[in-house]
Amino acid sequence: MNPSLALPDLSAEPLPAFDMVLFGGTGDLAARKLLPALLAAHAAGVLPHDARILAVGRRALSRKRYLAQVAEALRAHAPSCQDAHVLEAFCQRLSYLRLPAGDTAGYARLAGRLSPETRVTVCYLATPPDQFADICAGLAAAGLNGRNVRVVLEKPLGRDLASSRAINAAVGEHFGEDQLYRIDHYLGKESVQNLMAIRFANVLFEPLWRREWIHHVEITIAETLGVEGRGAFYDRTGALRDMVQNHLLQLLCIVAMEPPASLDADAIRDEKLKVLQSLRPFASAEEVARHTVRGQYHAGAIDGEAVCAYTDEEAVPDGSRTETFVALRAEIGNWRWAGVPFFLRTGKRLAARTAQIVINFRDVPHPLFAIPVVCPRANRLVIHLQPEESIRLYLHAKEPGDAMRLQPAYLNLDFYEMFRMRRADAYERLLLDVVRGRLSLFMRRDELEQAWRWVEPVLAAWEATDALPRPYVAGSWGPAAASALLSQEGVTWQEEC
Ligand code: BG6
Repeated sequence: MNPSLALPDLSAEPLPAFDMVLFGGTGDLAARKLLPALLAAHAAGVLPHDARILAVGRRALSRKRYLAQVAEALRAHAPSCQDAHVLEAFCQRLSYLRLPAGDTAGYARLAGRLSPETRVTVCYLATPPDQFADICAGLAAAGLNGRNVRVVLEKPLGRDLASSRAINAAVGEHFGEDQLYRIDHYLGKESVQNLMAIRFANVLFEPLWRREWIHHVEITIAETLGVEGRGAFYDRTGALRDMVQNHLLQLLCIVAMEPPASLDADAIRDEKLKVLQSLRPFASAEEVARHTVRGQYHAGAIDGEAVCAYTDEEAVPDGSRTETFVALRAEIGNWRWAGVPFFLRTGKRLAARTAQIVINFRDVPHPLFAIPVVCPRANRLVIHLQPEESIRLYLHAKEPGDAMRLQPAYLNLDFYEMFRMRRADAYERLLLDVVRGRLSLFMRRDELEQAWRWVEPVLAAWEATDALPRPYVAGSWGPAAASALLSQEGVTWQEEC
């Protein structure tokens, strides 16, 4: 858990009075992420005393039974926040409302419990996206779409460009773009924000941040977890839709974007959109086959414990062809980045839980030092997003002693050590940004649709092929073909150096 929870919260600005309505309030996301994030904000004293949280679900549940479920969820997912008084005070904020699908009168009951004229009202749609249109229509019909109402849309928003457009259009009938918060929790991670600060508040990197000096970029989000009881959802989704279309492409945008003119939400989003528009499209199925790898885990072991194959997970059909691993090579067609490969990779049941961006600089043009084995780990900037959050600049340095022997060494910006203050987790930061009305860390409609446009040829080519996803053993780094993707360019993934 976040070791900084015990530290003071020096950064918190006061929040306006608000109500947070969690659609899908008894679901997995609420239990794992949303309630623990709100509890952490509560425990840090960041929430106004009268902030309320109203969970909406389909099941008939008394408040007492709902709170018992919440207590269980918080025990499992917020273990570092277990002070009985704090939990009790947090639970005072919570209530539950049953709202079955199609119950239009239910929205009037919901409206009766809210005060959107005087309080910020956040409706978080943690439901499957095919319910977004109906929920937004229900909210609007009950008058819950005024200026103070903000709607958070969870990912994946649609299955492809057409379905994403349809959802955006339906939701847009009732809410303005400035009321819509399309969430990508990777943008809320502290080191992602810090990457923007490092890039745009220092002159050091800017001259080097281009094709002349950067050889290639790796972006990895590796998980040791499997599908964790979400087999049915995951099997319809797969890693490309679950992780690449959103998290990985958003990280790529932050690395590759031009400096925005200001920190205004649209100034930032305009620059990210230009990156997405500059991604070279996959022109044919052959290109997809050459530049992408899709894999699926077989039985193996994680941390010494045996784990089953993906197809043996609960609710996953035998013979499923859904990918649990993706690696791909992307290129950005603009003056800054032409010819620089961006290697993206994500997978479930991999060897380690890690998320990192590695900026690999070019070799010096004329080597002076006899480096017996080139230190491939040096000459790179590594932005660790998790498990630890740090930025490390790996350099060649001389080993102490007579001989001029070089070793990789690093300058370490460890955010925890450097800034001894509480750090909000990504969901907490983003939820509070919604309350504050800050849109810059949320995706605009055009960005999201452009990301779908770019991944669509990959989805189409994979659907059309008879080839199965490449198998990999759970606990490994994915199919060997993912290493080959880089070795064609004479490089290796960070952990293979
Ligand atoms: C979610 C995906 O968006 O991100 C999950 O739906 C994935 O499948 C999760 O496990 C990873 O997030 P994090 O922050 O734990 O790396």
